[in-house]
Amino acid sequence: MTESYEPADHYDRVTHAWGLLLGAELHYGVFESPDEELDVATHRLTERMAAGGQLEPGLRLLDVGCGIGAQSRFLASTYDVETVGITTSPVGVETARELTEAAGLTGRSSFELRDATANGFPDESFDRVWILESSHLMRDRQALVSEATRVLKPGGRLVWCDIVRHRTIPFLEVRERREEFATLREAFGDARMEPLADYVQWFESAGLTVEQADDLTAATLPTFEAWRANADQHRDAVVDALGEHGHAAFVRSADILESLWRDGTFGYGLIAASKPAAS
Ligand SMILES: C[S@@+](CC[C@H](N)C(=O)[O-])C[C@H]1O[C@@H](n2cnc3c(N)ncnc32)[C@H](O)[C@@H]1O
Repeated sequence: MTESYEPADHYDRVTHAWGLLLGAELHYGVFESPDEELDVATHRLTERMAAGGQLEPGLRLLDVGCGIGAQSRFLASTYDVETVGITTSPVGVETARELTEAAGLTGRSSFELRDATANGFPDESFDRVWILESSHLMRDRQALVSEATRVLKPGGRLVWCDIVRHRTIPFLEVRERREEFATLREAFGDARMEPLADYVQWFESAGLTVEQADDLTAATLPTFEAWRANADQHRDAVVDALGEHGHAAFVRSADILESLWRDGTFGYGLIAASKPAAS
């Protein structure tokens, strides 16, 4: 008999599988040593972002590309900020709202279906803008930056982190590695990486003062080994949710990304910037 799932069930299973593979927080880890627990390392990235954002109780924060709202809920409950999460995924919004209600945080964390490259919020309506691993999915990077800057209040702060590209990949190499790039696209979506220096320049050109631009390539490298260990440890549950092909594609993606990290193609960066206070 072929099993069939309602979309929500399916999403739960996929989300559950991603939790097993990537850990409690669905993003890269910043490791102090390679054998550190993945959850400790992913949480360190969140704490670094929070430190860069200089969060204080009562501030209004825009969570750009909010996924299912894990970061928003964490920031609202830990730092007592009011968060508004935006994503272009209707399932993301719906799931984020359900999880937030279940956590008793409705009213402190809200979620809306909006495109970050044309977000529609009034000018200067947020104290903080938080962009965690979502910019690589947005085609119009400059529109993201100008919109994020526009909605920030004078004196406000923006924190960003994402995968970055360290070198130009020649056309011939793109052709030779097309199977690798197709596998990554299948596992992680249609991503485009840009250099950390470009983000710094875009934020500066938009009128922000970049105070911190950290290259976290070496510190994030152990993430891939941790993902593979999770894929091995939770093999049956992941195959049940994603199928044999999905499991294999994830493991292969971790291998490919690790080789791109090691050969100096990709890496990871974090930026903290401020908007000058009104004179
Ligand atoms: C890799 S997930 C990161 C989720 C979240 N920041 C986290 O760390 O858990 C990327 C998110 O960006 C969202 N996204 C992609 N393009 C977007 C756009 N143009 N505007 C708003 N959100 C977008 C996706 O829907 C997804 O929620």
